[in-house]
Amino acid sequence: MKSEAKNKTMIYHVDPLNPEPEPIEAAAAVIRRGGTVAFPTETVYGLGANALSAEAVTGIFQAKGRPSDNPLIVHVAAPEECLTLADNIPPDAYRLMERFWPGPLTLVLPKRALIPDIVTAGLATVGIRMPDHPVALALLRAAQRPIAAPSANLSGHPSPTTGAHVIHDLRGRVDIILDSGETGIGLESTVLDLTSPTPVILRPGGVTREMLLQVLEKVDQAAELLADETIPRSPGMKYRHYAPQAPMQVVVGNPENVQEQILALAKAARQEGKSVGILTSEEGRNRYPGFLVAVGGGCDQPEITARRLYALLRWLDEQQVDLILAEGVSLEGLGSAIMNRLCKAAGYNIIRVEERSDAL
Ligand code: TXA
Ligand code: MG
Repeated sequence: MKSEAKNKTMIYHVDPLNPEPEPIEAAAAVIRRGGTVAFPTETVYGLGANALSAEAVTGIFQAKGRPSDNPLIVHVAAPEECLTLADNIPPDAYRLMERFWPGPLTLVLPKRALIPDIVTAGLATVGIRMPDHPVALALLRAAQRPIAAPSANLSGHPSPTTGAHVIHDLRGRVDIILDSGETGIGLESTVLDLTSPTPVILRPGGVTREMLLQVLEKVDQAAELLADETIPRSPGMKYRHYAPQAPMQVVVGNPENVQEQILALAKAARQEGKSVGILTSEEGRNRYPGFLVAVGGGCDQPEITARRLYALLRWLDEQQVDLILAEGVSLEGLGSAIMNRLCKAAGYNIIRVEERSDAL
């Protein structure tokens, strides 16, 4: 693609269930020519380029402003494509593909030489997944090649879960945006490393640990994730990711105490002249009178909270709050992925409230 084309982004509205052939063909042609296409998946929007061309993939890093030491996920239209991309595929991988593909599970496998180093940030492994979205699958089939795609946000911003988020971040920086409205799951795929004797979850996501254990005998979690569960963690881990502009704190513990603590913190911040936004469950909606609230699902509806989370963080940014206070969620099922993103968004600024012995 000529570089001047980067200033012009074609935006197509595409039916998420029955993608029209014209925009899919146009987008596939751009991929084949080495350009960049933002497209919906069932998790979040991806920013794709031909995974087999180093030059094409460079365009992704440029558009996002992404550091090149972070490897990309390669998307495929069918499990069989793994055979050409990965080597020494273990039996577990086939069982997982059979059970969870297409779906929100990325498998990290030993890579074959045809995948350029820029895709995997020089690693000997590659993350591969088959997305479960008609538009993504139609694009992959029409392009007739694997597509490398990180989330379609500017580096550091929350991942995009609507076409509008992508347009906000990437208009003028990519060749085509396929806008199919809201994505389904709302959090990125689970990244599972299959290159060690016991599979390791590197990033929790749509396929939960509990689901993986239906297929695998044992699943480990990366040390970083375990640390999330032993909150509070070392304040040394300060990097922020998936992050809103305003500083954010996550409060964890018994829900009643959490709400009480957040209300106290919010009042204290207001005393200092700060505007506060509170990320709450449905149950907490009315617990913060006079404060701006962004409401996720109920405590037993993590799938709703997951679907809304990034949009709520972006919305709080638009309200230009000075501080975001978030209720922690249970680590069960999808909850562990939600907590992982909340903790990252907060730069691991986590407050644990203890059970009070004098509490009623
Ligand atoms: O749901 C998703 O996974 C979305 C959609 C677009 O598919 N993609 C996504 O990509 O979230 P990205 O680039 O934002 O996140 C990719 C994650 C990173 O945490 C990266 O470190 C990890 O996958 N990853 C990719 N290849 C890897 C590898 N070879 N070894 C270890 N981690 C890898
Ligand atoms: Mg990302």
